[in-house]
Amino acid sequence: PKVTFTDHGGATRVVDGNVGESVMELAMKNGIPGIVAECGGSLSCATCHVFVREDDFAGLPALDEMEDEMLYGTAIDREDCSRLSCQIKLTVDSDLHVSTPETQV
Ligand code: FES
Repeated sequence: PKVTFTDHGGATRVVDGNVGESVMELAMKNGIPGIVAECGGSLSCATCHVFVREDDFAGLPALDEMEDEMLYGTAIDREDCSRLSCQIKLTVDSDLHVSTPETQV
């Protein structure tokens, strides 16, 4: 699966990931700027906030209550297509496009 990351300045990077890996892990491994992931994926920091492209967002499993709560604590206000990237696991069909916010802290 491939994930396309677009940073706040509009620069785009496409990276290949493995099934089961999270979008956050993929970003960290590839040095993608704009994702901090302070808590390492344990759903307690909200510094892995991303905006998912609308049509990709619709294909993701729904966010659970905890992620929904955490999304109210992001540095840049959440939008309709906001997710925490540590909670998005890649599947064989994942071909995702995400944008990173201006800041995570
Ligand atoms: Fe901390 Fe996602 S890495 S909530």
